[in-house]
Amino acid sequence: MVWPAGEVAFVTGAASGIGLGIARALVAAGASVALADIDGKRLAEIARELTEAGGSVAAIELDVSDAAQWEAAADRAEAALGPVSLLFGNAGVSGGGRIEDTTLDVWRWVQKINIEAQFIGVATFLPRFKARGGRAHILNTASMAGLVPMVTQGAYVASKFASVGFSMVLRDELEGTGIGVSVLCPGTVATRLGVTAPEAEAKLLGADLDVSIVERNSALLATGADPDQVGKQVLDAVRDGQFLIITHREWAPLVERVHAEQSRAFTEFEGRHGVDATAQMLASGIHIDQA
Ligand SMILES: NC(=O)c1ccc[n+]([C@@H]2O[C@H](COP(=O)([O-])OP(=O)(O)OC[C@H]3O[C@@H](n4cnc5c(N)ncnc54)[C@H](O)[C@@H]3O)[C@@H](O)[C@H]2O)c1
Repeated sequence: MVWPAGEVAFVTGAASGIGLGIARALVAAGASVALADIDGKRLAEIARELTEAGGSVAAIELDVSDAAQWEAAADRAEAALGPVSLLFGNAGVSGGGRIEDTTLDVWRWVQKINIEAQFIGVATFLPRFKARGGRAHILNTASMAGLVPMVTQGAYVASKFASVGFSMVLRDELEGTGIGVSVLCPGTVATRLGVTAPEAEAKLLGADLDVSIVERNSALLATGADPDQVGKQVLDAVRDGQFLIITHREWAPLVERVHAEQSRAFTEFEGRHGVDATAQMLASGIHIDQA
């Protein structure tokens, strides 16, 4: 059997888009999948579809932003399918628009779903992975918005940069444990994000849905990659232990512009604070918390 056949995965945001693509790829590879999502109705439909296709799945209704729901959700998944060894922290929303137009409630809502929930997922499952031993893997879905700034997406960009940083530290901290870490940074993917996020944001604000935003975002996303193909790419990358997973080459010049600005900033100033020992320690491979 080729890993992860016979393993159990827990996928958040599994009722749609990239999460569903990942779930389909896992089922095709012979893994069991706990499908976790806030949308119970779609979850039931997806669970039926995957079961009819011969998959072993469980529908787990979960609001990832509610820390109090996670342990019970993990218990339900493991009672139904067995011990989980793959965690996909994938659920996400965008919202808020330009920073000056973003309310604190919307800002916090985006951070809670996009990054805090990835931390809670790890806090829930990592002790289980360690207690059981053996190969395990954690993947967080970030975005190109985790590598490149995008105007009108301030709350989203902040959450996705955080997801990339969180995943980098987690990778370093778990090195040599048999628990791999990946971060997925997709470009445009043809999902329902242009509908699910504005609908949820309108509900949060008690406001009417802005149909023009839904139409504009959905038209843009419709030009994107097939989420099932992204799911297959993700599974191949996880199998290979790849850390940073990129879906679209077209973003490279933009990422390079960010890096070039950072590199320039190191040469275009006068060093006046002496030697920074922390940087020297990191450069020589000594982990900072062992110093
Ligand atoms: N579609 C893209 O172009 C794109 C690009 C880069 C990154 N992403 C990221 O991919 C991930 C998946 O998004 P998608 O594009 O597949 O969108 P999608 O809307 O099709 O799927 C997201 C799923 O997450 C669920 N969800 C939302 N809030 C939740 C919550 N609080 N608890 C549990 N589930 C919740 C939704 O119900 C939905 O089923 C997100 O993190 C998103 O930021 C998407």
